Amino acid sequence: MKTLVTYFSQTGKTRQVAEAIFETIEGDKDIRELSEVESIGTYDLTFVGFPIHAFAPPGPVKLFLRNKCEGRQLVLFITHAQPEDYEELGEWINTCKAEAASAEVVDVFTCQGEILDSILEAMQNNDDPYMQKLAKGAATSKGQPDPTRIESARAFAADIMSRYA
Ligand SMILES: Cc1cc2nc3c(=O)[nH]c(=O)nc-3n(C[C@H](O)[C@H](O)[C@H](O)COP(=O)(O)O)c2cc1C
Repeated sequence: MKTLVTYFSQTGKTRQVAEAIFETIEGDKDIRELSEVESIGTYDLTFVGFPIHAFAPPGPVKLFLRNKCEGRQLVLFITHAQPEDYEELGEWINTCKAEAASAEVVDVFTCQGEILDSILEAMQNNDDPYMQKLAKGAATSKGQPDPTRIESARAFAADIMSRYA
């Protein structure tokens, strides 16, 4: 069993989750930034982590999921500024899974990650009521992922790996 943890992280939040997942995994394992991964063909299972950008995966992640994951078993871990119970999160996750349609997505973990102050302020200064709603949710991301969420990520990874034991 050979496992890869790969991630795209602009401001370090997804990287924190990636590192917690990586530490939890036992056996033959590697951790790499997404931009460093040419092929996942030698791995039995690949954890792919990224933030939501504009309700979808960031561009480089879309390309990775579309072009480098065909036929592979993937576990997605996704961070976002909205709380985990935000009503549109399910749609965003489906958008992410659709990008990985040529792969087998085994499971998905999601958790809040703190949004950049500059982006939050831009949302708060936008008069659009939808942006105001998003800004309110995003303001609750301060300090995330906190130790409880990191622990949830560890428990998630342990559960996934127990299915392959
Ligand atoms: C350009 C940009 C767009 C974003 N769009 C969303 C979004 O649509 N929904 C959301 O919940 N969070 C959004 N976020 C917040 C990030 O998904 C969140 O803060 C994430 O944890 C950051 O992860 P990172 O530090 O690994 O880059 C956005 C952040 C940026 C920088």
